[in-house]
Amino acid sequence: MSRRTTLRVGGPADVFVEPASEQDLSQVVSFCSTEEIPFFILGRGSNLLVRDNGIRGIVICLSNPFFCGVRAEGATISAGAGARLKAVAIEARRSGLTNMEFFEGIPGTVGGALRMNAGAMGSWTFNVVSNVRVMNRAGEIRSLPVSQIPVNYRSCPLLHTEIALAADFVGRPDVSEAIEQRMRVFSNKRWTSQPAAPSAGCMFKNPSTIPAGKLVDELGLKGTKVGAARVSLEHGNFIVNDGGATAGDVLALVEVIRSRARKERGIELETEVEIIGE
Ligand code: EPU
Repeated sequence: MSRRTTLRVGGPADVFVEPASEQDLSQVVSFCSTEEIPFFILGRGSNLLVRDNGIRGIVICLSNPFFCGVRAEGATISAGAGARLKAVAIEARRSGLTNMEFFEGIPGTVGGALRMNAGAMGSWTFNVVSNVRVMNRAGEIRSLPVSQIPVNYRSCPLLHTEIALAADFVGRPDVSEAIEQRMRVFSNKRWTSQPAAPSAGCMFKNPSTIPAGKLVDELGLKGTKVGAARVSLEHGNFIVNDGGATAGDVLALVEVIRSRARKERGIELETEVEIIGE
């Protein structure tokens, strides 16, 4: 899984499946359900930490072109779960639609962004969603309006039991130059405040009292290393892989940060990155 995650750590999955249609996917998940085989849906692996002994069960990746389409119709952009968020942002810009600029620099897929209600630059995914097409664990498909999908900061609980197949995003017409300009500002902010080295994005959710990156910074933990895992010098909420880090290194560093935050500030940091595997 180290080749399938942006943090580049993690042991192997037992089985890796790339379905080529919704029917394929339906067969795989209903097979897993009847045989009681665990499965995990992988997006771009950009918010994921896989432990060193890998994943028992089946990893399903919706990377086949069948799941990666992006098309515009009126003020709506329809995108498959496997499409990159950046492709949604670009299609919205091409169609003269605003409100999706923040997708530009989030290094994930539509499916992953829906599942974790990914956000950046003061917005989050479900602010612009109107409908999601989902498959349940019996392999049955239905379409849900956003009003029937409860979400929180960095979480869409429904998509922890069901699989997102596609979504409709609704924008608002605007002039191309203004959209372009906002995308440039967001991109600049990201490049100047976040590391380019391999990472899983922000490691911790922001506590209500202080952004996690600021807290790590104030605790003087930037640059702290365990093995080849290091707290980024650019942004305190990123753990970067200097090359050859193990999941064990990253998790040990997570614990160093959590225990300092607890002892010195009484703050219980919660990981934002999903941690799976043995
Ligand atoms: N700060 C520091 N030191 C640091 C890092 C940040 O003092 O090392 C300060 C900043 O100066 C700023 C505040 O902390 O005053 C917040 O920092 P920033 O603007 O970078 O935003 P953030 O809350 O750390 C959030 C998201 C990011 C998203 C950015 C940009 C979370 C956990 N993180 O970061 O999302 O890219 O806003 O919109 O909500 C991700 O989810 O993986 C992620 C990277």
